[in-house]
Amino acid sequence: NKHLLSINDLTREDITQILDTAVQMHEVQHRDIKKLPTLRGRTVVNFFFEDSTRTRGSFELAEKWLSADSLNMAGKGSSLSKGESLRDTVMNLQAMGVDGFVIRHMASGAQQQIASWVSGVVINAGDGTHEHPTQALLDAYTMRRELGDLDGRHVVICGDLRHSRVFRSNVLCLAKLGATVTVVAPPTLMPDGIRTWAERDGFTWSYDFDAAIPQADVVMMLRVQKERMSGGFFPTPREYIAGFGLTPRRLELMRDDALICHPGPMNRGLEISSDAADGARSVILDQVSGGVAVRMSVLYHLLAGEGETA
Ligand code: CP
Repeated sequence: NKHLLSINDLTREDITQILDTAVQMHEVQHRDIKKLPTLRGRTVVNFFFEDSTRTRGSFELAEKWLSADSLNMAGKGSSLSKGESLRDTVMNLQAMGVDGFVIRHMASGAQQQIASWVSGVVINAGDGTHEHPTQALLDAYTMRRELGDLDGRHVVICGDLRHSRVFRSNVLCLAKLGATVTVVAPPTLMPDGIRTWAERDGFTWSYDFDAAIPQADVVMMLRVQKERMSGGFFPTPREYIAGFGLTPRRLELMRDDALICHPGPMNRGLEISSDAADGARSVILDQVSGGVAVRMSVLYHLLAGEGETA
């Protein structure tokens, strides 16, 4: 594959290869001197039209540790604010000699459009409510480190599914790796057409979090995305916590060896309690750590030239 726009761009074998390379990259992360020469001479732009801490920070570190030259830009502060088009913007970056475009954009499909314009590699760092493929890869990486092969494992994903690109990438990625997935949300935050979609992609859906929890090897909590709710947040926070929050009471329903994931940023006290986020079963910071290794692996597979090795 030339680009990484969607998990659908990857086969199960591609995903396994990325995760296996990430294991090697993780070792680099723990060395005193983290630099590899792998991407020396390559230039990558990290262009974020939406805010980010984890994705942007880990891509920047991954590029540095692979010796790529990188350029960091945000939508705000670029000449887009003077009326320059997105196409002109990315074509100008390409003219400067950029080989790779790591892009986060608020519009679903923006990266697909950019990939049709530029000759360089495009990596989707989150597009609207569509996909966040490197997040799903790092989630799978974290689960695999803890649980081994994900074939037959059960992942329960609960939260604001309507607005979640993480959920969309995760159901695709986990299905390819053989996991069983149950998704849970209140009716107002369940995506339209979930029934058809679940049948097509092979997952189940429910409004009953309590019933789903005891089956889970992994409980993945997703953020309530208030910024994408122009009509206000319904149910109320109190109702949301009662039905869908990972509260101390619900921790009791989880298996002792089950993992807790959250892609971040967290709304502590809303979708997840601090008892859950900071407890022994939480792998939330392991996800962040693995994110650097996974992004190193993705950059390596898409941008390293022939003859380069990790
Ligand atoms: N998980 C995630 O995408 O976090 P950021 O928005 O901080 O990058």
